[in-house]
Amino acid sequence: MSQSSSPDFAGIRDRALSELSSSAEAAAKQAWRNRYLGRQGEVQKLLDGLKTVAAAEKPAYGKSVNELRQTLEQAWAEKSGEGAAESAGPSGDLDLTLPGKPYPSGAVHVLTQTLDRIVDIFHRLGFSLADGPEIETEHHNFDALNTPPDHPARDEADTFYLDLPPGPHGRWLLRTQTSPVQIRVLEKRKPPVKVIAPGRCYRRDEVDATHGLFFHQVEGLCVGEGIALPHLKGALEFFFRELFGTGTKIRLRPHYFPFTEPSFEVDVSIPGRTFRGREWLEIAGCGLVHPKVLRGVGIDPEIHTGYAFGLGVERIAMVRHNIPDLRMFYENDVRFLKQFAAHGAV
Ligand code: DAH
Repeated sequence: MSQSSSPDFAGIRDRALSELSSSAEAAAKQAWRNRYLGRQGEVQKLLDGLKTVAAAEKPAYGKSVNELRQTLEQAWAEKSGEGAAESAGPSGDLDLTLPGKPYPSGAVHVLTQTLDRIVDIFHRLGFSLADGPEIETEHHNFDALNTPPDHPARDEADTFYLDLPPGPHGRWLLRTQTSPVQIRVLEKRKPPVKVIAPGRCYRRDEVDATHGLFFHQVEGLCVGEGIALPHLKGALEFFFRELFGTGTKIRLRPHYFPFTEPSFEVDVSIPGRTFRGREWLEIAGCGLVHPKVLRGVGIDPEIHTGYAFGLGVERIAMVRHNIPDLRMFYENDVRFLKQFAAHGAV
């Protein structure tokens, strides 16, 4: 079999080139490419036709198809290059339906979340917020809190003293507890007083899973006429039930703090939880404000009495979220922090 007349290669080429030059839109150009260079396009059909061509004409036929293909491919490459340049502009192939680039967003730190939760519960009990300086005087951090000069906490090995000349209130230090805020508040305000004071404290501790060089406490202070132990216990019971769930129990274990008398440590028991195999976990310190502390700020302890407590924020966050090591709060490892990103502020 032989083909009587060979295809009009030049005619096809001219038609194709003029069609391509008049195709402006991406879709039209793509259609052109399919029509001529696609799998079932004209060039392929001509190639398929080779087998029906007489043997003697095959070389010339094959050469013509190849030339046609090269010409069209080159024209296409030039044209689609233009297209790429065009689509970089605003009217090009911009696909607004593609998903956008995700931007990482920050979240409230797990300690701040815990603090917000603590503050929220105490607000509902009628406490307002107070604060004091992190750079404190020896007087506010120790003396006014009835801490004797030989108390071990005052040792240079436990407390960061600042290299500054002492002021009228003694040496300067980084507060070791939020308790000096009790003094700061009572110096300025007369009872009734009902405040909490969250903040950072510093100690020269050996850093390990449960101790850092700094940590956060929330101090509580309530002073008024007739304030007694049941008020303290009721407030703490309400607080810990709100925080850890309704079945939560607390117990007050006699202890010693210089600025309260009597003083207690607070243990919690949370249904379904154990702490190193034990039911009770020590979680706070508390007591009735020592009469000497009240007298020191000009309050008559025969008229006004009060209670105080101190909570460790890290410890509470560790219990809430089963976090084994306090150092994780400060390492800023995003893999750790992200786990709490969904919890929001409170
Ligand atoms: N300031 C104490 C500490 O850092 C905690 C504390 C105990 C605070 C008893 C209080 C309290 O207000 O009444 O260990």
